[in-house]
Amino acid sequence: MLTINRLNVTLDTLTLAKDMSFSLLPGKVNVIIGPNGTGKSTLLKTLFGDIQAKSGDIRFQDQSLTSKKLSSWRKLFGYMPQDIRLDIELSVLEVVLLGQLDALSLRLDDSLIEQALSALDKIGLLHLANRSVNKLSGGQCQMILFAQALMRNPKILMLDEPVSALDLHFQHVLLDHLDEQTKQQGWVSLMVLHDLNLAAQYADNLLVLKNGQLVKSGNPKDILSPELIKDVYGVQAEISHDSHGLPFVRTIRKNPARTGMQVELSSSQPAKGIADAV
Ligand SMILES: Nc1ncnc2c1ncn2[C@@H]1O[C@H](COP(=O)(O)OP(=O)(O)OP(=O)(O)O)[C@@H](O)[C@H]1O
Ligand SMILES: [Mg+2]
Repeated sequence: MLTINRLNVTLDTLTLAKDMSFSLLPGKVNVIIGPNGTGKSTLLKTLFGDIQAKSGDIRFQDQSLTSKKLSSWRKLFGYMPQDIRLDIELSVLEVVLLGQLDALSLRLDDSLIEQALSALDKIGLLHLANRSVNKLSGGQCQMILFAQALMRNPKILMLDEPVSALDLHFQHVLLDHLDEQTKQQGWVSLMVLHDLNLAAQYADNLLVLKNGQLVKSGNPKDILSPELIKDVYGVQAEISHDSHGLPFVRTIRKNPARTGMQVELSSSQPAKGIADAV
C-alpha cells in the first residue's frame, strides 16, 4: 500500500498540496482528475522524489521516501511524466530496454530483449521495434514510453496524462493493458486523466483534486455527480450510465448555438450565417 499522510507541498508562493492524506491499494487503478494547474503533476513528482515536500510522510509498505536513498526509492516506480519528447538517436527497442536500465550490464541478456519485444507486441507496436524514436508520431512516442514504464515491472506505476496524444483505439489498448497488468501483478497504479469518461470507465478509485486539496475520493459510481463537476470545473454536466452501469458524463454548453442558423455556400459572397455570427 502507498500511503500519503498530511502532505504539504509549496512551490514559490503556491500551495500545491494542502494537508493531503490518502492510501492507494495494490491491484487497483487510481485516477487523479482536476483542473489545469491544480497540482496533479506536482503530486506525482513529489511521490517520485523530484520535488521535496514541505512536510508530511510518503510511505510504501515499510519503506519511507525520507528514510531511503532516492535511487533505491525510485526503483519501486515505473513513471511516465507528462509531455516527454524523445529527441534522441535510439531505436524503439533500445528505448523500451532503458526501462530496465538498472538491470542492464555491458552485455544485453537475450531474455531482456525478448521481454522488450513482448512488451511491444502486447500493445500492438512490435512493427516499430527497429524504427528510430525521433521519427515517431506523438501518439507512437507515448505508447513506447508506456512500454518502457511497464518494462520496469514496478511496484508503483505512475502515468501523467498517458493518453493525451492517443487515438480512441490506443487509448483503450493502453488503459486495458494497464488495468489487466495492475490486477495481475498487484501494482499500485496512479494516473492523471482529463477525460472524465475514461476516468469513470477505468478508475477503481477516483481522486478529485482542486487547488491542491483532495476534495473527494472513491469509486466513480459513488462520487461523480453534476454538483462535483460544477464545483471543480465550473462546467454544467449531466450524468447518465452506459451499458455496464458506469457513469457517463455529458457536458452542457453555456451558450448553445442558435438553432436554425443556415450557412449558405457561395463562391462570391461571404456566407450569411458566418457574417451574422461575427
Ligand atoms: N518548479 C516549479 N516552480 C514553481 N511553480 C511551479 C513549478 N512547477 C509547477 N509550478 C506551478 O504549479 C502549479 C501546478 O502545476 P502542475 O504541473 O502540478 O499542474 P497540473 O495539475 O498537473 O496541471 P495540468 O492539468 O495543466 O497538467 C502551476 O501553477 C504551475 O505553474
Ligand atoms: Mg500536469
